[in-house]
Amino acid sequence: MDKIVIEGGVPLSGAVAVSGSKNAALPIMMASVLTAEPVIIRNVPRLRDIATALTLLGHLGVHSRWLGDHTLELCAARIQSHEAPYELVKTMRASFFVLGPLLARTGRARVSTPGGCAIGARPVNLHIRGIRALGARVQLRHGYVEAHAERLAGARVWLDTPSVGATENIIMAATLARGRTALENAAREPEVQDLARMLNAMGAKISGAGNHVIEIEGVERLHGADHTIINDRIEAGTLMVAAAITGGDVLVRGANAEELKAAVAKLQESGVEVTPEGDGLRVRRTGAVRAVELRTLPYPGFPTDLQAQMMALLANAEGTSVITETIFENRFMHALELLRMGADIAMKGPTAVVRGVPRLCGAPVMATDLRASSSLVLAGLAAENTTEVQRVYHLDRGYEGLDSKLRSLGARIERVPDRGAS
Ligand code: UD1
Repeated sequence: MDKIVIEGGVPLSGAVAVSGSKNAALPIMMASVLTAEPVIIRNVPRLRDIATALTLLGHLGVHSRWLGDHTLELCAARIQSHEAPYELVKTMRASFFVLGPLLARTGRARVSTPGGCAIGARPVNLHIRGIRALGARVQLRHGYVEAHAERLAGARVWLDTPSVGATENIIMAATLARGRTALENAAREPEVQDLARMLNAMGAKISGAGNHVIEIEGVERLHGADHTIINDRIEAGTLMVAAAITGGDVLVRGANAEELKAAVAKLQESGVEVTPEGDGLRVRRTGAVRAVELRTLPYPGFPTDLQAQMMALLANAEGTSVITETIFENRFMHALELLRMGADIAMKGPTAVVRGVPRLCGAPVMATDLRASSSLVLAGLAAENTTEVQRVYHLDRGYEGLDSKLRSLGARIERVPDRGAS
């Protein structure tokens, strides 16, 4: 297993390009199951989660080939299996998103439930309620969701909470249903909008993606399409915080100001300059970091996937910040590791009170989940001396070459085999 070793204290400078969005690519890859024709997907990041999705699709009988570094062709001419096994769903929750497309295409699906994960319980009740509303017979047996439906039927579906995954699963299921589906209190994330664009390119009739109500008029069949994935707004935000935390000056190319509005607003409030430049955002900090209050919310609110990174930045602020996590119940694991680096953070329920300290100090720390691992890398960039981040496989699930991108901006960061790791 690798670890990442960082010598902190170098202000980053230069330009860096954002990769394609993991969270957009995963459901879009699952959407390939909806048609027998080949689909081409461009700007796909090369990540462990993408490899896991390809393994799952391969298991179902979907043929895949890379047409270039980031261009993928998928063809589900014949579905060979109706099952997403536990081994794959537990490795990556997004495997569960295959439920809707598989059921809609073939009339049945057997998909393992994901179980808990490091950041909280993360149930799938809304996904199941959604496909039931579309007429599927669903049973939960031996840890698997077993769903059957000759043909799904459009319906009104209300989501208790605007779950991204449930929205995506239900939209995909409804594309081939008989009649019209209205999905209310839907997630509005850019990744949902990108999925709807891909599905419409495949012949689906979806309107309202990006709003609270999404309408889907079912069609008889879908066809092949050629789609380019949006850039990864979370990777962009992470690189922006990297520039900010080191007091650097970095052009993050491909960062979309509209999609990052909440993050840009909080960075600016904390004293970081963010200005549009060319096709990206230039991030510069010359003064001190100022404390802010921050609350994670569904899009367009501040994304939970950037909360850990902002906490690393605010650990160095002048004053006391308050961070409230409203999306996941256990998403402060990184705080415990930041404490080991000299941060002053008190947690109570969903709230973390972060009293800024002048400088973090390097330490060996352990990544517990994807975004926690990037927050520890960011903290290491700003800390005195050496930080060693262990269990970086979490980082590789969701960031394409983050260490080499940071190195290209001047960071002293290296990946080395960790022989002592358990
Ligand atoms: C997606 C993202 C993840 C991000 C999250 C929130 C992907 C692959 N992952 O995850 O990076 O952190 O959105 O922006 O796109 N919930 C239920 N019942 C359900 C489904 C969800 O109660 O059936 C709850 C969850 O426990 C959580 C909240 O809804 O508290 C939001 O979760 P959700 O939006 O579903 O997250 P994911 O789609 O799993």
